[in-house]
Amino acid sequence: MSQPIAIPQNPNNHVVGPSMSPSSPFSSPQMKVKVLHPVENVHLRLLLLENISQDAVAAFRAQGFHVDHHAKAMSEDELIQALPAYHAIGIRSKTKITARVIKAATKLLVIGCFCIGTNQVDLPAAAQAGIPVFNSPFSNSRSVAELVMGELVALSRQLFDRAHELRNGIWNKQSKNCWEVRGKTLGIVGYGHIGSQLSVLAEAFGIRVVFYDVLNIMALGSARQVESLDVLLAEADFVTLHVPELPETINMISTAQLTLMKKGSYLINNSRGRVVDIPALIDSLKSKHLAGAAIDVFPAEPGSNGAPFDDQLNEWSSTLRAIPNVILTPHIGGSTEEAQRLIGEEVAQSLTRYLDYGSTVGAVNFPEVDLRAMTQDQSDHIRVCHVHKNQPGVLKAVNEALSPYNVEKQYSDSKGEVAYLMADISDVSIEEVTKLRELISATSANILTRFLA
Ligand SMILES: NC(=O)c1ccc[n+]([C@@H]2O[C@H](COP(=O)([O-])OP(=O)(O)OC[C@H]3O[C@@H](n4cnc5c(N)ncnc54)[C@H](O)[C@@H]3O)[C@@H](O)[C@H]2O)c1
Repeated sequence: MSQPIAIPQNPNNHVVGPSMSPSSPFSSPQMKVKVLHPVENVHLRLLLLENISQDAVAAFRAQGFHVDHHAKAMSEDELIQALPAYHAIGIRSKTKITARVIKAATKLLVIGCFCIGTNQVDLPAAAQAGIPVFNSPFSNSRSVAELVMGELVALSRQLFDRAHELRNGIWNKQSKNCWEVRGKTLGIVGYGHIGSQLSVLAEAFGIRVVFYDVLNIMALGSARQVESLDVLLAEADFVTLHVPELPETINMISTAQLTLMKKGSYLINNSRGRVVDIPALIDSLKSKHLAGAAIDVFPAEPGSNGAPFDDQLNEWSSTLRAIPNVILTPHIGGSTEEAQRLIGEEVAQSLTRYLDYGSTVGAVNFPEVDLRAMTQDQSDHIRVCHVHKNQPGVLKAVNEALSPYNVEKQYSDSKGEVAYLMADISDVSIEEVTKLRELISATSANILTRFLA
């Protein structure tokens, strides 16, 4: 009978609560989830750059990780020097993780983008090095939905123009062409995370909601899905866009669509800059067919705060800026403290779930694999996490190595050139883990093999 695995000592070892539950929840309340840690790296080291939230720092430290926190981004050369000492890195959008950086980061297990986008990371290079990348694409949905609510009222009351006039010392009280939003129709294009949240908020204002989506989606509240974009455009007093940028959504609102919109209606775009044909919108606003627009995203956007938003960037910029009742904002739809906090929580949780439990659910560049959690009475169980090249014969070789043990559960999946296998095996001693690691790591397709216990 083999000796049970000794769980690595962790000064802050604690049972994870429901929100940190490692895998699929247990059905029985008697079963206590076992806290796992890497067998080989008891003290994992994390490098957090770009002033990532202190809540995330606290969450990592509570897991027993060593955290180094920096306010600024690092250059490629600085990263190449610093990263070999770390098992995980957290960044926002300014730090570029290139193939050179990944090659130098020999201990790196995981990358967390504490933001929405991930194009600052060379995702294929990371995947090929066995490094999953996590982000938080939907944490700011509510922030965008709330901004749209503000824009609905601001446009229909010409709020920005009146406020601007008074700031310039001009008193211009008027009610002509100023409306309540109550009883009007909002047309939501794209009923995903943001569109559906907005639907609920708008109905609370007494607004009728219709939406168009390429998918059939169950409407929330009294909202109604319409069969085509054209139907929505003809019916709505406000049209708001919440679709991703895809080849078929680029310029999805152009002259033909603007012509279909009701005279005196409004267009709101907080999705992606290229979804609206802005010169066509300018024509529609100038001809007074549309009564106003709110635009938060642009085909070309300045790279930093303080940079000009001028005709060199977008040739129509000064024309658009001069049109009355047009609200222009610098891509702030999702920029709130709450969204930042949610991003911090979500990405910190994804990194912890990968480092301690092997779960890749939510990774952008990796096959998504997870296993049901182990229970505390399974003291001689270990979890094998094997990242390998997606090629024939791997499972046979790995299962041969695992064959002396009872494989309690196993799951594998692939994405492009990379595949990932997780297996929980029982009746294993520490000495056997070393042998098993040698066996699996020696297989020809091996990229990374970790053991959690
Ligand atoms: N302004 C900001 O700061 C900000 C912040 C967050 C998100 N966004 C952008 O908002 C958009 C929506 O985000 P989300 O989180 O709601 O996305 P989501 O993926 O949850 O929803 C998008 C919806 O659009 C639908 N769709 C796709 N193609 C369509 C088409 N051709 N016609 C109609 N519907 C279509 C999809 O089926 C889906 O239901 C994205 O472009 C995102 O980048 C902007």
